[in-house]
Amino acid sequence: MASTLLSLASATPSASLCFHEINKGKLNLGCINKEKTNPFIKAKSFGRVSMVVASNVSHFEGITMAPPDPILGVSEAFKADDHELKLNLGVGAYRTEELQPYVLDVVKKADKLLLEKGENLEYLPIEGLAAFNKVTAELLFGADNPVIKQQRVATVQGLSGTGSLRLAAALIERYFPGAKVLISSPTWGNHKNIFNDARVPWSEYRYYDPKTVGLDFEGMIADIKAAPEGSFILLHGCAHNPTGIDPTPEQWGVIADVIQEKNHIPFFDIAYQGFASGSLDTDAASVRMFVARGMEVIAAQSYSKNLGLYAERIGAINVVCSSPEAAARVKSQLKRIARPMYSNPPVHGARIVANIVGDSALFKEWNAEMEMMAGRIKNVRHKLFDSLSSKDKSGKDWSFVLKQIGMFSFTGLNKAQCDNMTNKWHVYMTKDGRISLAGLSLAKCEYLADAIIDSYHNVS
Ligand SMILES: Cc1ncc(COP(=O)(O)O)c(C=O)c1O
Repeated sequence: MASTLLSLASATPSASLCFHEINKGKLNLGCINKEKTNPFIKAKSFGRVSMVVASNVSHFEGITMAPPDPILGVSEAFKADDHELKLNLGVGAYRTEELQPYVLDVVKKADKLLLEKGENLEYLPIEGLAAFNKVTAELLFGADNPVIKQQRVATVQGLSGTGSLRLAAALIERYFPGAKVLISSPTWGNHKNIFNDARVPWSEYRYYDPKTVGLDFEGMIADIKAAPEGSFILLHGCAHNPTGIDPTPEQWGVIADVIQEKNHIPFFDIAYQGFASGSLDTDAASVRMFVARGMEVIAAQSYSKNLGLYAERIGAINVVCSSPEAAARVKSQLKRIARPMYSNPPVHGARIVANIVGDSALFKEWNAEMEMMAGRIKNVRHKLFDSLSSKDKSGKDWSFVLKQIGMFSFTGLNKAQCDNMTNKWHVYMTKDGRISLAGLSLAKCEYLADAIIDSYHNVS
């Protein structure tokens, strides 16, 4: 047997001889010498581990255990708990009043029609299903929007919201080297992962004010103003995750003013269109307002929540450009990024979306079901507020619960208080104090109110 020899060394990233040249906003990528075949190799890398090992030691010995995902890990812990009153308010997935997963009736119908048509399962083009790309841009910007008529939108079907954000992050990394993405504090847990993995530098802008459990609007504006010119400002199009706190239409106007003044690029993550208010148009108002000002905009869409297509991984990345030529170039580069990552996206969910939006009866049905889902969440929100207000005799103002929108409520509970929610009350939630009201029923509101009041007053 070979002597036990384990040598771990951080591999020195290969010397990058690539250079980026930015000329009047246009970027040329060029490489010399060794890296000719890969123009995107950069000096940054995860510390790669190289090992020489004895034959009875795994080649993967040097790989450490990754921490559980802070959101998806909550469901795993929930499953392991057999308490009868347990509640899973961690993951943002819609549940019925009986707390069961829900497949929209309109999706079942569209599915049946697809089966009857007997379409083939050949590869989609890299950019996805043409009929899907058309309707997804129209849903977001409005079918009559001049940017669509003028072919100024580069739309590429992505692997739901996450995959679409990841494509945009890769585009930023390649074509805006060193540019920063500003994300809200707090934000959806995966944003930081996405930009870290794409090696895009990011920093935070103030968003949540713990004193009011509301928006820190002044802090937000000041931080966006202070960011280096030409930064990407990541904005939640509606139903901010995790806080449920959205700017008012007037505040959106001021945000757009500052972004324009600083020549920043607005980058929308819109994962809840139609699911927040029940109206596709109302929830897209922020994005459309920026576009109407003539701004170039990036927008990542998801059909996980509004059509309940979570596992189908259906979404899109849209880049609104100043000219159709720029849009065509951007689209070609998005395809170039997608090809080595996953080659081409899934077809089934894309056909479901295209068929529902393209059929007026199904589209109407979808809108009604979205209203129903948004309505159930609003009812639960009101019942939770009523329960908190009537049970808590301390005089605390719980009205912030009613001011929030979408599937989440940010309770303002700290980590120790969240631990109490889980350990004592079997309420599973993320440690930032967020609860998903989509996982709550009217029947469970009083129990949840008891848990929140106890955690708030009895744990510091
Ligand atoms: C703000 C935000 N963006 C994006 C996503 C992406 O979800 P998916 O990848 O399922 O479309 C989510 C899902 O929870 C989200 O809350």
